[in-house]
Amino acid sequence: MTVDVGLAGLGRMGRIHADNIARGAATRLAAVYDADPDVARTVAGELGVPWVATYKELLDAAPAVAIATPTGTHAEMTVAAAAAGRHVFCEKPISMDRATAVDAIEATERAGVVLQVGFHRRFDPDWVVVAERIHAGELGEVTLFRTTLRDMTPPNPAFLKNSGGFFADVTVHDLDVARWLVGEVVEVTAHGAAADPAFAEIGDLDTAVVVLRFENGALGVIDNSRSARYGYECSTEVMGTLATAKVDGAHRHNYEWRTPGWASRDLLSNFGERHRLAYVAELEAFAHAVETGTAPRAGGRDALAAFDLAAAAETSYRTGQTVTVATERKNDQP
Ligand SMILES: NC(=O)c1ccc[n+]([C@@H]2O[C@H](COP(=O)([O-])OP(=O)(O)OC[C@H]3O[C@@H](n4cnc5c(N)ncnc54)[C@H](O)[C@@H]3O)[C@@H](O)[C@H]2O)c1
Repeated sequence: MTVDVGLAGLGRMGRIHADNIARGAATRLAAVYDADPDVARTVAGELGVPWVATYKELLDAAPAVAIATPTGTHAEMTVAAAAAGRHVFCEKPISMDRATAVDAIEATERAGVVLQVGFHRRFDPDWVVVAERIHAGELGEVTLFRTTLRDMTPPNPAFLKNSGGFFADVTVHDLDVARWLVGEVVEVTAHGAAADPAFAEIGDLDTAVVVLRFENGALGVIDNSRSARYGYECSTEVMGTLATAKVDGAHRHNYEWRTPGWASRDLLSNFGERHRLAYVAELEAFAHAVETGTAPRAGGRDALAAFDLAAAAETSYRTGQTVTVATERKNDQP
């Protein structure tokens, strides 16, 4: 069985999804749509699929949609999809503000359609095996969580203006991984900086360190950068009383080039290279959720919980205070 999926948004992320939906064993790319018809026509031509000129036509083309448009458009498109009875895979974050995100999540819940969000690390084979072993108790009690997400180069200024800000756009991935691997977070303390003046000009950050305290007593630290320069890095370490898990994989190849007194290895340059398998697996999982009617591993309530933690980080950064995460929100209630 394959699930027909219409794809909206054909930029950095949408192009990755277009290839994966078109080539995936569990999915078929029914049609593509982009606000720029030339982009839609080009991608459709490359993949040999139809393109449509409006989102309404996309919704008419398939029982499921994948939304990879700029963040500010996600909620409205999710609500429209739910109203049409379409299942939704939506890139993160669902919205730049909480109330709109809740409306979109509730619209999908009322319509009884699947809503999966683009927390791809929940589907990355390296993180998946670590999560399974932690959840099976092999690590013992978790004492320390550390994770790093650094882009090699920043996205373009137009993207940044509509990103929802550093914590909601970048740190949100790590906050979701923290909840998934360790458990609920009760305290957030964030520090941020704009090392590149271009970020300061638009009131955004390019560097941050976020300290977490988990409900189970563990501590966590997240470090993020928009421009690490040396390469793309995404790594996670979880220390426990019985074992420590470490996920790395910063290299493109498994060889070193050795010269006298020196060894060099190539590094990854972007998220598409590092998480290739995760982006394939998340859409396979989406198709599975649609076919079986089961809850996705990264659902709307997970998106909301991570959004709340990102908002807590934003507040902590702005006030210089540690933020206690509201208990009613900790449990994913809207
Ligand atoms: N999960 C991840 O690893 C990951 C990585 C990058 C981006 N993202 C998310 O994906 C989304 C898109 O990011 P991107 O980097 O691909 O952006 P982008 O700017 O590269 O691409 C956006 C595309 O959407 C099109 N578009 C704009 N408004 C539209 C509309 N109303 N309807 C249809 N098309 C529209 C644009 O023409 C463009 O082609 C963002 O929400 C971002 O947070 C997720």
